[in-house]
Amino acid sequence: MSIIIETEDVTKVYQMGQVQIHALRGVSLIVHQGEMLAIMGSSGSGKSTLMNVLGCLDEPTSGRYSLEGMDVSSLTKNQYADIRNQRIGFVFQVFNLLPRTSALENVELPLFYDRTGHIKDPMRKSRAALERVGLGDRLDHEPNQLSGGERQRVAIARALVNQPSILLADEPTGNLDTRTSIDVMTVFQDLNDQGMTVILVTHEFDIAAYAARVVKLRDGVIIQDAAVEGRRDAKRDLVAFENKDSEDRDMMGHDGEPAFFTGHGLRVTSPPQQTDVSTCETDSEEEKII
Ligand SMILES: Nc1ncnc2c1ncn2[C@@H]1O[C@H](COP(=O)(O)OP(=O)(O)O)[C@@H](O)[C@H]1O
Ligand SMILES: [Mg+2]
Repeated sequence: MSIIIETEDVTKVYQMGQVQIHALRGVSLIVHQGEMLAIMGSSGSGKSTLMNVLGCLDEPTSGRYSLEGMDVSSLTKNQYADIRNQRIGFVFQVFNLLPRTSALENVELPLFYDRTGHIKDPMRKSRAALERVGLGDRLDHEPNQLSGGERQRVAIARALVNQPSILLADEPTGNLDTRTSIDVMTVFQDLNDQGMTVILVTHEFDIAAYAARVVKLRDGVIIQDAAVEGRRDAKRDLVAFENKDSEDRDMMGHDGEPAFFTGHGLRVTSPPQQTDVSTCETDSEEEKII
């Protein structure tokens, strides 16, 4: 698979009056097309800053960033904005949907920011994006007529409407209950199965277990980059979750929650290119990163 994202020694320094905050201190990361990556780390470790750099919302202070082979560090502000609009889809913890506005119109919105003026038939594109996330029968619903999971699906459809090459999601399940979180992860896994590159930030091990690779940040540097062992299937987990009182007793943790929600859901293995191949469980990792 081709390289879609490559950062080389990226730093980001925020100047707050006299104080400099080193949010990223030299991040080198390669992501291939079609990967599904979870970025983890405690609060303040630089996860959102990294997402903003990767999504061309924020320029690095130093270092190189190349997106689909193009060095984006050297672009003008307008070119930068165009790249962001055309190639990146963003999903956030808060859905940022316009109230009293239908799902269809909410999803259409990014199309009107396109400066090329080539967008034809925005309504058809919006409908297709909503169908892709399973909301073909909710086109005219306004946000307050939708459940939390459906609202996040609308936000994902809005991120997809420009047909981006990468989907970036910053804590997309941060405001959702367990069942709805797994439900939203089925959407990300589906999109990933269709070839979409997905990068999501989460601090929940159970959510990271749906990704194929986990990158952990601490104090603005990558402290671990590993493949997820036995990646979880969100659709299967959703069924198990809904049937948890019946035939799926073997999925249960001792406290009655499915095993995948007891904090033991994530196992990682160092990627093959590293010589030190080790397996670690999140129990010990949790202490290290939080
Ligand atoms: N716009 C900003 N201005 C100043 N400091 C910032 C800004 N954004 C983030 N920071 C600081 O940079 C560090 C990393 O923040 P962030 O990337 O938001 O972390 P995370 O998403 O992992 O919680 C923190 O110390 C934070 O306070
Ligand atoms: Mg953050």
